[in-house]
Amino acid sequence: MTTNAQTYDLSFLNKALLPAVIDELRYYASIASTNTEASRLIEQGQIRGNTLLLAEEQTAGRGRLRRTWLSDPHDSLTFSLAIHGDHLSVLDNPQMLTLVAAVAVTDAIKELAGIQAAIKWPNDILLNGKKACGILVEAVWQPPALQGAIVGIGINVGAKAVPTGTNLRYPPTSLEDACGFAVQRESLLVSILQSFFQWLPHMNEAAFRSHYQNHLAFIGEWVNIINSEDQSILSGQCMGISQQGSLMLQQTDGTMIHCTAGEISLRQNNHK
Ligand code: ATP
Ligand code: BTN
Repeated sequence: MTTNAQTYDLSFLNKALLPAVIDELRYYASIASTNTEASRLIEQGQIRGNTLLLAEEQTAGRGRLRRTWLSDPHDSLTFSLAIHGDHLSVLDNPQMLTLVAAVAVTDAIKELAGIQAAIKWPNDILLNGKKACGILVEAVWQPPALQGAIVGIGINVGAKAVPTGTNLRYPPTSLEDACGFAVQRESLLVSILQSFFQWLPHMNEAAFRSHYQNHLAFIGEWVNIINSEDQSILSGQCMGISQQGSLMLQQTDGTMIHCTAGEISLRQNNHK
């Protein structure tokens, strides 16, 4: 079953997004990675305002820590939003953008597919407990200033986008598999961007935190935080997120730990 046999309807996207939502749209039929390209454009001062880089195909899509993001042209949605430093007063904490992006994806999925997605803190979106989307936020610094930020999002929209026969870190799924019908990529993209820019100015408010926590996977459950550098494991009960976007874990002795997103991975702890 093919969800999106054709490429993007760019005239629809231009009308829906410019100039109300974004300042510029750059489309690539094939590119190594939209995050890498966005980073290059920011470094060279070629980004004005909020620029969307949308790719039909990525030949070297990236996750964190040089991991690979696999995508299938036509069935995946892969894009990066490049935000000029001048456009963000929040750039003292760019990692908060991961949380805003996660909420935007869950909002859009609810709107268009009618299903509740869960956020596996900090950067994955789960449908029925499986990974359907990954988010990669990167900052471009030119000390002492932050030149810009990049919010990269990859979503398995159609069933064919789900990688097969590969050794994945988490079981994958697609939006189509989870909701049972084909969701149009253009509508999904517009809805994500609209929600992202609606939440962005409010990300330090209690309403945002509460909305985020309503979608947080494993809340109230026992989880492990695995440090990718030394494989050390911290266990605790997932209590939600702090105002700075850290994950709060309560240990058996009552101690509350604040985990910041770094070289760590969150996993459910089934032994508690
Ligand atoms: P963790 O779950 O350990 O926190 P992560 O989910 O944040 O890791 P990254 O570290 O950013 O993931 O790396 C991306 C990972 O996503 C890859 O290593 C791969 O296992 C997985 N992956 C790649 N492409 C897809 C896809 N289309 N759908 C689901 N998972 C994918
Ligand atoms: C993750 O799995 O945790 C993050 C994956 C992020 C993938 C997206 S696809 C668009 C953008 N370009 C990339 O190379 N990566 C991000």
